[in-house]
Amino acid sequence: MCGIFGMIGANAVANTLQALKYLEYRGYDSAGIAAKQADGIRIYKSEGRIHNLEKLLKNSVENNADSSFSGTSGAGYVESEIAIGHTRWATHGAVTTANAHPFYSPDGNFAVVHNGIIENYLALKKQFTSRGAVFTSETDSETVAYLLQNNYNGNTLQAVCATAKSLVGAFAIAVTTTYDNSLYAIKNKSPLVIGVSDVGVYLCSDIRCVSHWATKVAVTPDNTVVVVGKEGVRFYDFEGKPITVRFFTTDAAEEMEQVDGDFMLKEIFEIPEKIRLTQEGYFKNGGFGVEPERVRNISRIYLIGCGTAYNSGLQIAAVARKFLDVDVLPVIASEFIYDNYPVDGNTLAFFISQSGETADTIRAAENFNSLGGYSYAVTNTKASSLCFACKKVAYIYAGGEFAVASTKAYNCQLVTLLLLTLDVGRIRGTVSNEQYASVLRALTGIPSVIEEVLSHSYEISRIAETVKDSSAVFYIGRTTDYPTACEGSLKLKEISYIHSEAYPAGELKHGTLALMEENVTVVAITDGTLSDKMASSINEVATRGAKVISVSPQTFPNALSVTLPKVNTLLYGIVSVVPLQLLAYYVAKRLGRDVDKPRNLAKSVTVE
Ligand code: AGP
Repeated sequence: MCGIFGMIGANAVANTLQALKYLEYRGYDSAGIAAKQADGIRIYKSEGRIHNLEKLLKNSVENNADSSFSGTSGAGYVESEIAIGHTRWATHGAVTTANAHPFYSPDGNFAVVHNGIIENYLALKKQFTSRGAVFTSETDSETVAYLLQNNYNGNTLQAVCATAKSLVGAFAIAVTTTYDNSLYAIKNKSPLVIGVSDVGVYLCSDIRCVSHWATKVAVTPDNTVVVVGKEGVRFYDFEGKPITVRFFTTDAAEEMEQVDGDFMLKEIFEIPEKIRLTQEGYFKNGGFGVEPERVRNISRIYLIGCGTAYNSGLQIAAVARKFLDVDVLPVIASEFIYDNYPVDGNTLAFFISQSGETADTIRAAENFNSLGGYSYAVTNTKASSLCFACKKVAYIYAGGEFAVASTKAYNCQLVTLLLLTLDVGRIRGTVSNEQYASVLRALTGIPSVIEEVLSHSYEISRIAETVKDSSAVFYIGRTTDYPTACEGSLKLKEISYIHSEAYPAGELKHGTLALMEENVTVVAITDGTLSDKMASSINEVATRGAKVISVSPQTFPNALSVTLPKVNTLLYGIVSVVPLQLLAYYVAKRLGRDVDKPRNLAKSVTVE
């Protein structure tokens, strides 16, 4: 949902470009870089993917369009020691070069990039247009550049603080200026990590990205202005009063790898290894830190997240209801914020987020804390904003996930949440040592079971051929299979753009059966426990012309079968989702979609 990066140090443009490639998962509508030169700030921006920006930078040097620049990099484009960059996921204004960041102030003395939403931008814009200003874009972000110029009175820090004070909303903003050789940043509710190394200082939306260069990082708190200079980093509140922010060494660095094929397929094939790592992490640390005194008296557990993370909560709520004696309720984060779910000192909530930066989930955690509940982050990203918003953190061990469609993180979330809820059950005495040992034994075997499923991926690929021309695809399941249906459906729609819905199988006959006809596909998921009921559902849709694919340890007469090994029913969802992830991938490939970067989406949704 937009990524920003800024750097002071050698080869700032080349490094910013490299960072933008990493940050492209946050938005890929357009990209841009502002490079500070002796004679002013130069902005390069282009619609579409980063490689368009890279071409633009190279062409500008080859065509000698920028002979005034102080130098070119080994990579063949303009260089600078100070640069800021942006990848955009459009919120305000169409996907055009004009709406791409960075933006100049009217006098060209400031350039800004922004991640987030300036909620009062219309009022701000009006202040300037009423005085005759003509904005170059439709964005909310350009107002920041106008404010900076307007507030500048010989002191850049003062101008930045005054600008920060007039903004309402969520923002991580980086500013470069002709007035001095520092970078400035403003942070409220959108992620901003500051990094330092021997050769440079950096600011960035993503800790994994900045850790590629930085040896020490600081996570910027809300309502902070940052001044990044060659001589170091200083933090201020919006009144300009210095504040202290702790730097720490980080092991969050992730190889900025390139893959020959698609990240999504690579990430699906990593699932067995990552599940093993998650289990190892649990054993190595003696659990994920469930505190007996916290959970003995709880009366309710919420599992809260968005999209795939919500689906993992939905799945584990259904599983944990089988062995816990308290209410276990999955809730969509954006709904939790504005509804009246009961919370008190005996309420525990797991906030689930791969990125740890999803605004809805963070806001929900903040609300939950303010009502006195005990919050627990379940995330794949160390030192992400969610970690600071919650009282406890359990990391999943999925490793960097780059495809917008989440896959391995889902499986690892399931394993982590299962282990967390089993620990709650052991403490409360509803899970015996024998039950616990038996589930753990079964869990240890899950990676090999998934390897076996993956070894049949070509069969799923063949089935994809029969699904790709469907007018709609419905996924059905009961109890613990229903969340898997939801996740399978979400995967398919987000990357293939085929209309898809998930239903509890028994619910079809209450309305949705009206949609069954030829060209509709139904994917029926069952672990085998309610297979008679599923057989009836399959017959009902098949007699109305729908094509049926079953995902089950058993086969059904009217369905094309994906036959899975039999596993403990508490663990079945960790396995049965894998063929659905593959199916979505192969259908999307057959339709020629960009599976890693589907239209209209971004991996990390940092606005509400
Ligand atoms: C998953 O395939 C999606 N792209 C999306 O639903 C995602 O899971 C959701 O936005 C939540 O992200 P998070 O886990 O980073 O919070």
